[in-house]
Amino acid sequence: MEDKIAAALGDSTDYWASPTTQIFAFIGLFWLSIKIFSFWRLIASLFILPGTSLTKFGKKSTWAVITGASDGIGKEYAIQLAAKGFNVVLISRTQSKLLDLAKELKDKYHVEVRNLAMDFAANRDKDYAALKKLLQEEVGEVGILINNVGLSHSIPVPFAETPEQEMKDIVTINCLATLRVTQLVVPGMVARRRGLILNMASFGGLLPTPLLATYSGSKAFLQQWSSALFSELAPHGITVQVVQSYLVTSAMSKIRRASWLVPTPRQFVKAALGKIGRSGGAQGILGTCTPYWAHGIMHWAIASFAGTMNGVVIGINKRMHEDIRRRALKKAERDGKKSS
Ligand SMILES: NC(=O)c1ccc[n+]([C@@H]2O[C@H](COP(=O)([O-])OP(=O)(O)OC[C@H]3O[C@@H](n4cnc5c(N)ncnc54)[C@H](OP(=O)(O)O)[C@@H]3O)[C@@H](O)[C@H]2O)c1
Repeated sequence: MEDKIAAALGDSTDYWASPTTQIFAFIGLFWLSIKIFSFWRLIASLFILPGTSLTKFGKKSTWAVITGASDGIGKEYAIQLAAKGFNVVLISRTQSKLLDLAKELKDKYHVEVRNLAMDFAANRDKDYAALKKLLQEEVGEVGILINNVGLSHSIPVPFAETPEQEMKDIVTINCLATLRVTQLVVPGMVARRRGLILNMASFGGLLPTPLLATYSGSKAFLQQWSSALFSELAPHGITVQVVQSYLVTSAMSKIRRASWLVPTPRQFVKAALGKIGRSGGAQGILGTCTPYWAHGIMHWAIASFAGTMNGVVIGINKRMHEDIRRRALKKAERDGKKSS
């Protein structure tokens, strides 16, 4: 018996003495240490470390410009920034919704509010000229720009069947409007050497998303452009932050009930404004944060163990959107029968 144990121990000592085993063990331990370090970085970023204080971007009564401000996430950015004492410029299409929100913010938080009703899909020069005039003549220092406006497909749709107008609107609103509004605001920020430009991205762009291909591409554009802009503007004292997000309850997501994975706009925006300058779940992506805890963990896990461009991940995403399309088409059919 003792001989057998000694023989077994002898074998295992030989095994660990082999240089090949030692190299593999070292690589394995190194990989594990990186993952453990990255996990603790994630926990610290999401739950422990605060973000940069918004006061860095301007004192009370500095202006914040918010696009897509009358509903959903954009409305919540406007509310939470007004609550912190920022004056706000609200931009979206529907004048009546803007007026209601402006009244609410003035009454509740005693801040100044300016509205501009414009349709970003129309991409009219005269609207951008009106915005420029408003910023130059009625608004002082713009400390914060929230590029929030966005459009997705009405339902998941194969690319070849995507209506041309929907395709154009998504690209015009998500990409061109963001570029044009930012160009109006950046020179002032550069001159003052301070400012925050926060761009709403989406997991739809982080992970290539079949059946939302145009939306996915437009949000991936925002990620790429924002990281490049981060690098350009950091030496001028300006912070550019891409905010990555999975689903949030809103008209766009068509989800009404919040859960641990799908926060309300209020929960989401609180996390986003509290984590400026942090990465949350978006480790290693310049100027990017996935601030809401459940989204952050999901982002980190996918990026760490599979990769956001991984074929299996994209396949799962595809099946999910095929299923959403099937259900949306059935619902449209039921609604059509009811109304006829
Ligand atoms: N909700 C989610 O699950 C989710 C997830 C990831 C990322 N996001 C991103 O978060 C951002 C906000 O999404 P949300 O869910 O809050 O959307 P939402 O509830 O549909 O609100 C969109 C806002 O934009 C305005 N708007 C829409 N089209 C416009 C246009 N052509 N011109 C000017 N304003 C326009 C709307 O007001 P009017 O209709 O009055 O114009 C509204 O104020 C988007 O960029 C979206 O891609 C959302």
